Amino acid sequence: MSGSTHTSTQPLLDVGGLSAGYGRVRIVDDVTFGLHEGEVLAVIGRNGVGKTTLIKTLIGTLPALSGSVRLEGEDVTRAKPYQRARSGVAYVPQGRGIFSSLTVRENLQMGERIGDAPIDAASYQRIHGFFPILEERAGQMAGSFSGGQQQQLALGRALLGKPRVLLLDEPSEGIQPNIVQDIGMLLRRLATSERLTVLVVEQNLALIRLIADRCIVMDKGRFVATLHPDELADGAVAQRYLGV
Ligand SMILES: Nc1ncnc2c1ncn2[C@@H]1O[C@H](COP(=O)(O)OP(=O)(O)OP(=O)(O)O)[C@@H](O)[C@H]1O
Ligand SMILES: [Mg+2]
Repeated sequence: MSGSTHTSTQPLLDVGGLSAGYGRVRIVDDVTFGLHEGEVLAVIGRNGVGKTTLIKTLIGTLPALSGSVRLEGEDVTRAKPYQRARSGVAYVPQGRGIFSSLTVRENLQMGERIGDAPIDAASYQRIHGFFPILEERAGQMAGSFSGGQQQQLALGRALLGKPRVLLLDEPSEGIQPNIVQDIGMLLRRLATSERLTVLVVEQNLALIRLIADRCIVMDKGRFVATLHPDELADGAVAQRYLGV
C-alpha cells in the first residue's frame, strides 16, 4: 500500500472550497483536497451525505456553486464534461451505466469518446488483457452479464482512453467478492505502475484497505476527517463514520 510520497509536487487534481447542489440546496459544502499523481483516495460516508454529488461536480455534469477544480494547475471549474474527459478525467458511475441492449463490444466502444489518446487495436488489447471476458464475449448483450462482469465492462470502458484521473462511484456495490478483489488489484497496480490517479467512493472496507493511500470521511456535504485506510480495521472507527 501507499506509494505516495509526492508531497512537494503540485496535486494533479486540486479542489478548493467546492460547493454544489440542486436548486438552492447545498449538498457539497466547501470541500477542499488535493490528489497527487498515482494516489488512490477513498471517500467514505453514510448514504445521502453527497458523495455522488461531489463526483458529478468533479466531472462537470453538475455546476459548482462556488470554489474551484484544477487539473494539473488548469482551472476546469467551468469546463464541460467532454472537455474534462479530453483532459484525462474518466468516470465509472454508481450502478455502472452499462447499456444492457448493446453488446459488450459496443459498450466498450463508447469509451472511445473519452479521453484524448487515439484509440487503436493496442488500446483494446490492453483492456482485453485486464478483462479477457470482454474479448471472449464481445458479441454478447451486456445485459446478460452479471453485476461483476458489468463492472469490469464499465471499468474497461473508462480505461480505454488511458485516463490520468479515474473517478469511481461505489464500484463494489452488488458485486461478488472475487471480482471486487480483482478490480482492486488492477486499480492498485495501475496507480503504482502507470501513475493512474484514483478517487473512489466506496463503502467496502476491504476494498478501501486494498487500494487506498488515504481515506476521507464525508458527512453532510463536508470533509470531516482523514484516515489511514488501516484505521478502518478498527470496528469502532468504521462504526463511527459509516454506521457499519
Ligand atoms: N438530482 C437530484 N435532485 C435533488 N436532490 C438530489 C438529487 N440527487 C441527489 N439529491 C439529494 O442530495 C443528497 C446527496 O445525494 P448523493 O446521491 O450525492 O449522496 P451519496 O452520498 O452519493 O448517497 P449514496 O450513499 O446513497 O449513494 C441526498 O439528500 C439526495 O436526496
Ligand atoms: Mg452515491
